[in-house]
Amino acid sequence: MATDCDCADNIVLIGFMGAGKSTVGRLLAQKSDRFFLDADTLIESWAKRRIDEIFEAEGEDAFREMERRCAEWLATCVRGSVISTGGGMATVTDRLPQIGRIVYLELSWEEIVRRITPQERQKRPLFSDLKEAKMRFEQRRMLYESQADLIVDASRPPDEVVESILKKL
Ligand code: S3P
Repeated sequence: MATDCDCADNIVLIGFMGAGKSTVGRLLAQKSDRFFLDADTLIESWAKRRIDEIFEAEGEDAFREMERRCAEWLATCVRGSVISTGGGMATVTDRLPQIGRIVYLELSWEEIVRRITPQERQKRPLFSDLKEAKMRFEQRRMLYESQADLIVDASRPPDEVVESILKKL
């Protein structure tokens, strides 16, 4: 597990698509008197396109580069916030510990598939092929675990997840 963070005022949520990072992040920000920032929304506003449009027009590599730049910005400019990352941000940067304390929202593959409705899938290009998405899930689990200061069971209702983060962090 990562330790010794020198920027204790941000909380960074990591985890796979559908783990509830944005829902939990918004609530956690309210309860802990922080701002809420969603990395995907920041990238969309910077690129002036939705995530699915970025993937379609420029491809995954270009999106990952934007994620890297976003992580740099978060590490150098942002304080006092809860930040929900896109599921892949942890794979493209080693700056997360400099952004804040890292909380991994852990959820089983079965529950992720249950939560990501067909409508939600449309917003997530990497979820269109279920077999490939499962491979990514398996590849990333260890990385999420190794980067986390805290691992929480994200299968519980969001307010319980938030309580447990605030108690343990
Ligand atoms: C991605 C996760 C998405 C978004 C993009 C790529 C990934 O964010 O950043 O579609 O690689 O896991 P969410 O985790 O918020 O769905």
